[in-house]
Amino acid sequence: MFSEHDASAYGAIAHDFASDPVPGVPERPLIVLAALRRAALQGRATDPHAGDVEAARDDLHRLTNEIADAAEVGLVQYTDPVRLGDILPGLWCAALWYPDRPVRLVELGASAGMLLLAESISVRFANGAWAPPGALGVIDYPMKIPSEFLRTPLAIESSIGIDLRPLDMRDPEHVELLHSYAWPGPPARKERLDLGIRVARERPPPLLHGDVLEVAPDIIRERLDREVVTVVIDSAFSHYLPTSSRVKLGRTMDALCGAGPLVMISRGLAVSGDPGRSAVRAIDLTGRRRKVYAEMNFISESPEWLTSSSNFPAKAEKVQ
Ligand SMILES: C[S@@+](CC[C@H](N)C(=O)[O-])C[C@H]1O[C@@H](n2cnc3c(N)ncnc32)[C@H](O)[C@@H]1O
Repeated sequence: MFSEHDASAYGAIAHDFASDPVPGVPERPLIVLAALRRAALQGRATDPHAGDVEAARDDLHRLTNEIADAAEVGLVQYTDPVRLGDILPGLWCAALWYPDRPVRLVELGASAGMLLLAESISVRFANGAWAPPGALGVIDYPMKIPSEFLRTPLAIESSIGIDLRPLDMRDPEHVELLHSYAWPGPPARKERLDLGIRVARERPPPLLHGDVLEVAPDIIRERLDREVVTVVIDSAFSHYLPTSSRVKLGRTMDALCGAGPLVMISRGLAVSGDPGRSAVRAIDLTGRRRKVYAEMNFISESPEWLTSSSNFPAKAEKVQ
């Protein structure tokens, strides 16, 4: 998985760790690597981004307790503002399904709220750009999208994110925590994250502390209205939940959809079955239609559009 994401430094350490586990260190590579990196950012360990297997093994032995504590908390908070490129086409689907209605956004498992920054970050797609007035930065997303999207007005009326541990980019400790989840690889990754951090510091996205399963139903219900379209984003969130919680969340969403247009944008299993990739779907729970529109790797690099623009969105599939 790591080599597929151009992160061979982590691949080497994770491989060594899996073939000869360190007693007391749980087998959760993403969390273990993030905990090691956090210690490195504090000057207490060798940076695992360098891929030094021996040094990582020494650090794992020395820091076993704090790594076990991080695994006990169990939160993978990796995020990247490039995922705005995954989400924007779904927002345009909502705008086309429900024309002339502003969007109210709710993000589940928002981490630092990078996906709530659509009004502050411009996204350059391969054939045109999302360019909100007053954007504070630009991100490249090398995927061609239907030109109809680029002509469709998209007004975001409000945004809110929910997380068990919302990360506030004005707090240096939270910034360090976010950096600890970053993947090693091309410098562009760090540049993008730093851009997102800068923007989130200047225009902090509203984030609520809480368990999605407890908090989200009321938050979504309060936003539903026939004059707007409420869009719920589930990006790299629900697949971390146990199956019973995923089912509960699905039932909650189904029960809410009568009170006003409710659209879900969800990044989940790839339609190609490739375990290293994710597919993004826009699902209109109220109108009972959906579109699986793009596929990308976990980091949202190498995105690929899944349908031809000519049949979009008129032939959107009906939910079975
Ligand atoms: C991998 S991050 C995804 C961040 C962002 N959605 C994205 O796609 O870049 C998953 C987030 O879900 C949060 N999370 C996990 N379980 C949660 C729960 N039950 N309620 C609220 N947040 C949760 C974690 O704290 C973490 O910040």
